[in-house]
Amino acid sequence: MQPNTITSDPWAEWLLKNRHGGDAEQRLRVIEAMKPVRDKVLENAELKQGATLLDVGTGDGLIGFGAIEKVGADGKVIFSDISEPLLDVCRACATETGLLDQCEFLKADAIDLSAIEPGSIDAVTTRSVIIYVTAKQRAFDEFFRVLKKGGRVSMFEPIGKLSYEFIPKGDYYLGYDIRPIKELVEKMKDAHKAQHALQSTMSDFDERDLVKMLDKAGFGFIHLELDVTLGNAGMLSGNWEVFYNSSPNPLVPTLRKQVEVALLPDEQERFISHLKPLVETNTGRTAQCRAFITAIKEV
Ligand SMILES: C[S@@+](CC[C@H](N)C(=O)[O-])C[C@H]1O[C@@H](n2cnc3c(N)ncnc32)[C@H](O)[C@@H]1O
Repeated sequence: MQPNTITSDPWAEWLLKNRHGGDAEQRLRVIEAMKPVRDKVLENAELKQGATLLDVGTGDGLIGFGAIEKVGADGKVIFSDISEPLLDVCRACATETGLLDQCEFLKADAIDLSAIEPGSIDAVTTRSVIIYVTAKQRAFDEFFRVLKKGGRVSMFEPIGKLSYEFIPKGDYYLGYDIRPIKELVEKMKDAHKAQHALQSTMSDFDERDLVKMLDKAGFGFIHLELDVTLGNAGMLSGNWEVFYNSSPNPLVPTLRKQVEVALLPDEQERFISHLKPLVETNTGRTAQCRAFITAIKEV
């Protein structure tokens, strides 16, 4: 999972750089914060020695590499993603760590896993992937098709729609109150309309919609755990430069880019002088709403 290359692929660019503002310490903090999520996704997948795991939207392999030991020398992890550069990162990491024999790499969209035989997979995992897939039902239908009887889906997805019920979108940016500079924020949104439209498709569903879609796909057993934390849990480092050079998700530019594209110099100054002290003193409030879902193909 060591990022060596930064490419122009937005997914790779975000996972390898913009997620942590290009800051090595923040990167380690992000990875540390994700370990409990990775462990829970893997625990819910109930992987056995010899199993074949398909990790959809594998990114730089957080879940996939975590699974290698669990499936053992006779097992296999298929690292699957739409991003070729990220698959290259995973392939390089598997080569370096001598794990290549247990790994396969597949460039595929979650909604079209036709390269995979029906009934050939023991477990499918996703972490923060379905959120980006528009045709979610098609992805779940594919998961059902590729799984063996008794096979499981174990997924983790953020539920933005629920978060915005607690912390209204537009009034807060990553938990910081931006109401006093709302007109500047509106200007930024106008300049980045396309990205903001994409962002809203990430929050037009909730955890119940996911359960309904898995049910429709044919899964006999479905278990949902909703994890809601209000506080300042989602906060970044308290370091303004890291915050300013980061982006909350792959589909939007870094905050710096958004500001520099949309605002005049005096507006940029006003924007920064409002937000920077809040970030540096960690004066904010976030609602972290996440779903862990397990589904079993019973027939
Ligand atoms: C937020 S990252 C999560 C990466 C990884 N699962 C993890 O836990 O670190 C989202 C990943 O989903 C991939 N992705 C986005 N849309 C996809 C799609 N339609 N099908 C498959 N993968 C997709 C991206 O390339 C990216 O690697």
